[in-house]
Amino acid sequence: MLVLFGGENMPGLAIIGSQFGDEGKGKIVDFLAEKADAIIRFNGGNNAGHTVKIKDKEFKQHLLPSGVFHRGKVNFIASGVVVNPKILLQEMEALRKSGISISPRNLRIDFRAHLIMPWHILQEGGENSQKIGTTQRGIGPCYEDKAARTGIRFEDLLSSALLTDKLKTQYEKKVKLLGSMGMQMPPGFSYAGILSEYLAYSRVLKGYAADVSSELHSLQRQGKALLYEGAQGAFLDNNFGTYPFVTSSNCISAAAAVSCGVPPSFIAKSEGVVKAYTTRVGNGVFPAEISGELGEKIRLAGREFGTTTGRARRIGWLDLPMLRTAIMLNGFSGLHLTKLDVLAGLKEIKVATHYEYRGKQVNNFPADTTSLQNCSPVYRAFPGFPEQNWKAVAKKGKAQKLGALPKNALSFVRFIEKELKVPFVSVSVGPERGEIIFLR
Ligand code: GDP
Ligand code: IMO
Ligand code: MG
Repeated sequence: MLVLFGGENMPGLAIIGSQFGDEGKGKIVDFLAEKADAIIRFNGGNNAGHTVKIKDKEFKQHLLPSGVFHRGKVNFIASGVVVNPKILLQEMEALRKSGISISPRNLRIDFRAHLIMPWHILQEGGENSQKIGTTQRGIGPCYEDKAARTGIRFEDLLSSALLTDKLKTQYEKKVKLLGSMGMQMPPGFSYAGILSEYLAYSRVLKGYAADVSSELHSLQRQGKALLYEGAQGAFLDNNFGTYPFVTSSNCISAAAAVSCGVPPSFIAKSEGVVKAYTTRVGNGVFPAEISGELGEKIRLAGREFGTTTGRARRIGWLDLPMLRTAIMLNGFSGLHLTKLDVLAGLKEIKVATHYEYRGKQVNNFPADTTSLQNCSPVYRAFPGFPEQNWKAVAKKGKAQKLGALPKNALSFVRFIEKELKVPFVSVSVGPERGEIIFLR
């Protein structure tokens, strides 16, 4: 177990999206969670949608870590996550119906995590969020309050006196703010209504409150394997993404340490999840975007509709400048390639090997928007490969590893690995838990 996660006394592994989110992090985290002792979700909120498919059951999780499907593991929601209690309880209930019970024994939520309040969702209806194409889940406004030091935190659920007091102050301010935005308050939007709703959450959730940072330090001292689950992806990161078309949290591997209250040395390794093509939900620059029929074909084959909002995801080719930069930002020592099966049946498959900007070759994702907007991707085309029985391919892959892939798929994978100079740890060829070839 410790070997997989980096060796004795260095058991932390972070799994990070290397594109614009929806790379298949949920599937990879679920897969790796078998070998972990604890799984920690460290950023974002219910803007995320992480899918785990076990046989014919598909679970779409927004807040709960993707380790909850394994017994005997502890799942953590760290301080850097913004928690909508209503969504959290819905998720817990959906799992209970499937026979998976969540209790304070297997779920711990940091005292310091901020709560998404009904006004955050209303506040988000404005022009800027429309321009960005946010998920409208109140994520940005909640992080704004956190930075402004006016937010309500998970710990406030522990004292009804404190909750009542903080809620009153915030409610009055927000009514003024929403009024100044010309917004009509929806039915049920009252101080008494919101207070009674949150007091009810507090009764159910207060037992989950924990000092996640201390608990992780304790697990680390015991040599336990800690698996950090990122949400979103490198190019939605608030610092390093395609600002302003980004989310409001940091998504890269270093954010795991900041959010969890552990030193960077705890995150011994980070691995990137790479979709075999690129998708993006929402607006913003997308250099290798494919328009027209071909994009639609891949969207349908990959079921590329948002896990959270159901919106059609924009489709593009695999973009190596993006990935080189993601590797640099996150220090990936390994990559998990996902959705290779989706490309089956295409006559040719393209990869953006670099960009051209003012006649010069650009190998990395430019840091400034002007260069980025004026870069043209340069593609290399690969011959396609036919549809397969992917379950059989994955089974064969147990012994034959990448040798189980169709020949042209193998050349495509080898090319990417060589260009990126980072080895693939796994290649996923279907949504189900077992549809993966694990390489190292
Ligand atoms: P996440 O946000 O990174 O966890 O990814 P999402 O769950 O939002 O989107 C990934 C989608 O692809 C989900 O529907 C997964 O079930 C599905 N998926 C993951 N890996 C594979 C794969 O290798 N092949 C196929 N066809 N689907 C996959
Ligand atoms: P997972 O974890 C894909 C996108 C939104 C929008 C931008 C800002 O499933 O990969 P926000 O609501 O965060 O303020 O929206 O970020 N976005 C995601 N896109 N996957 C996600 O999460 C995303 N979370 C946010 O579509 O463009
Ligand atoms: Mg998702």
